[in-house]
This record gives sequence, C-alpha cells and structure tokens, in this order.
Amino acid sequence: MKTSVVIIGGGPSGLLLSQLLHLSGIETVVLERRSRAYVLSRIRAGVLERGTQDLLDRAEVGTRMHGEGQVHDGFNLSFGDSLHRIDLARLRDQSVMVYGQTEVTKDLYEARDRLGGSILHEVEDAAPYAMTTSNPFVIYRHNGQDHRLNCDFIIGCDGFHGVSRKSIPAAQRREFEREYPFGWLGVLSETKPAAEELIYAAHDDGFALCSMRNAQLSRYYIQCKADEDISTWSDDRFWSTLKSRLPRDIADEIVTGPSIEKSIAPLRSYVCETMRYGRLLLAGDAAHIVPPTGAKGLNLAASDVHYLSEALIAWYRDRRADLIDGYEARALARVWKCERFSWWMTSLLHRFPKSTPFETRMQRAELEYIVSSQAAQTSLAENYVGLPY
Ligand code: APR
Ligand code: PHB
Repeated sequence: MKTSVVIIGGGPSGLLLSQLLHLSGIETVVLERRSRAYVLSRIRAGVLERGTQDLLDRAEVGTRMHGEGQVHDGFNLSFGDSLHRIDLARLRDQSVMVYGQTEVTKDLYEARDRLGGSILHEVEDAAPYAMTTSNPFVIYRHNGQDHRLNCDFIIGCDGFHGVSRKSIPAAQRREFEREYPFGWLGVLSETKPAAEELIYAAHDDGFALCSMRNAQLSRYYIQCKADEDISTWSDDRFWSTLKSRLPRDIADEIVTGPSIEKSIAPLRSYVCETMRYGRLLLAGDAAHIVPPTGAKGLNLAASDVHYLSEALIAWYRDRRADLIDGYEARALARVWKCERFSWWMTSLLHRFPKSTPFETRMQRAELEYIVSSQAAQTSLAENYVGLPY
C-alpha cells in the first residue's frame, strides 16, 4: 500500500496535521495505538493561544471552540494571601481561549470523519523504516494482520513515549532534559470554578492552580511529591490542601464535591532538537515536553504543526524542499522560547525541596517585582498569550 504522508499518533498534533494536509489535497494515514475512546478519555490543559485558535479555524474545526470556549482577558497570581490579576487585554490587547484539549481532539476526530480521513485505531507495533531514503515506509499490525505502508514522509506525532523519536539513532539525537522534584495532583470535579479566571498560587507549602473546563466543571491541581502515592489522597485531603494554599477569601468560597478524575503527572522539560531525520519529522510531544505551568504543551504542538503543514504543502505543490529543510530550525526557535517560559513559571511558583532560604526570598522578590512592574507584567502577558509563530 502507498500514501503520501503517514502520521504515527492520533492525538492533537497528528489529527491537526492530517486535517490541514487533507484540506490542501494531501493524502495521509494516521496510525493510532489506542482506541478512540481511550484517546478522548485523556484530561489535558486547554488554554489556547490566539495562534492555536487561528490554526483550528484554518483546519475548519473552530466552530464549537468559539461557541463553547471561554475567552479569558486575564489570569491571577496569588501569594501572601493576596490575588494579583494579570490583565492580558490591557497589557497585550489579547486574550486566551479556555477550551479543554479533549474537546479540541473530539472536534478534530469529527472533522476527519466528516472528510473521510483515514485513521486506524489500536494499531500495534508501528515502526518507521528507510527514513534516510526517498522511499520510507511504516510496518504495523492491525486487526491481527501485518501491513507495510509506503509513503513519502513519516511524521512522528506519537508523544513523549512514542516510537518515532526512538527510531532516530541515539547518536543522532540532540536531547536536553530537566526533571522537576515534584509532580501535580489534579482533580476534576463537577463544581462551580473557584473564580472566573485561572488562579496560579505560590505558597510556602507548594503550588496550586484553580482552572476550569466550563461553568460547572472545575479543574484543580496541587504540587505534590514526585513519587506521591495517589491512594493516600482522599478528596477531603485534596480539598483541604488546596484551600490551605489559596488566599482566605478564595478558599472560603471553593465549592467542593466528589472528584470525577484524580491523577498525578510528573513535571519535565525536554527537547529533542533532532526534529528531522531524513524523511521522518517529529511534531508536538514526540519532540518536546514542557511542564504544564505555562499551559504551552498543546500550543507548541500547534506551532510545530503549522510549520510542518506549510513545509509539506510546499513540497507537494511546488516540489520545494526548502521549508522541509528549514523545519527543525524554525520550530526550535519557538520551542526553546516556550520551554524557557514554562521553566521560568515553574521555577517561580513551586516550592523546591532543596531551596535555600535565600532562593525562597528570590522567588518572593520576583513575584513582588512582577505585580509592581508594568514592564514585568507585559513580558509575562506576552508569553502567556503566545509568542508569534
Ligand atoms: N504508535 C501509534 N500511536 C502511538 C504510539 C505508537 N507507537 N505511541 C503513542 N501513540 C499515540 C498516543 O496514544 C497518543 O494518542 O500518539 C498520540 C500522542 O498524543 P499526545 O501525547 O497527546 O501528543 P501530541 O499529539 O503531540 O499533543 C501534544 O497533547 O497530550 C498533550 O501534553 C500534551 O498538550 C500536549 C499535547
Ligand atoms: C488546565 O486547565 O488543566 C490547566 C490550565 C492552565 C495550566 C495548566 C493546566 O497552566
């Protein structure tokens, strides 16, 4: 069998790329390891930059986002029992869209189905071959049958634990990593959110985040140990810990309820600069990971997909190789800036177990500087709403 572009991974990156290429007449096949239900069961951040919103519109999947998403003109930092609003609209004349990643993925699946896109689920052992030739192919098993799919390009959209990046010889991979000494314990509850906009809370006991999916669905996180045992976290313990890290007047208004999802996520910064290896190209979490503090994961995947879709369209339309050749450098220029912002937000807001008293004072001084400086808030806002593509 032959197609133009094989995409390994049916998450946001793979689906968005598949949709954009389809709209430009380029045939793709998406190979997804999990069932669709499993992919759609994942709970992930959904703070969409303007660039991501525009790309979803170009992919003709923005209707429900504009109808059901919440436009946020600002967000809050809290420390020392006070709340400080970062006014994105005033500082950068921009806003962000709060719309769960699960919904984005659902919209993409529906659009692919509508256009007759080829997505195979529960694909086993997909593996790229002949990547350094002009005739690469993917071998995989589906419904008990082994298959070979010849193509022009293989795109690794298979996330941090996927096969694509690991198919690049280790000696060729330029990798950079920072693991953080803590994790996030997240809870989803069918309760009214703590506030109309997000609250990022720094506290001596640890970080907390108040977010939401809609007016009756709240998403909360508290910093926890990297090796935390989730079985020791009852809902009551979660709620009391969350409240203890928020300003009193906010904590007193928190509507608690049973958790409908509770999970722990590790925090990591990671970049594989080798985003291209011959006819294999990586996009999204397959190439880089950011700690969720800056809500950049999905937005970075979107900018990768933007650059990659432009490059592939130029190849198929005009047999131009320059954008393919320039993809890695172009994507990395934005990847590293977003990695820096996510690392900076994480370093600013979390309690590091081995912090010295001086370092703790530096964190507080930086927070005090931000809330007292228009210039500092403008820089924070510029990164939060999304740096240009
Ligand atoms: N073969 C086929 N599919 C695979 C394989 C494999 N070997 N390994 C992983 N996958 C699939 C996963 O099941 C998942 O559906 O690839 C998909 C990767 O999706 P994500 O991990 O969501 O990564 P990406 O699409 O780049 O989206 C980035 O989504 O998960 C969040 O934090 C992430 O916000 C970021 C954004
Ligand atoms: C979320 O709503 O899950 C969320 C929001 C903002 C973040 C991280 C997660 O920075």
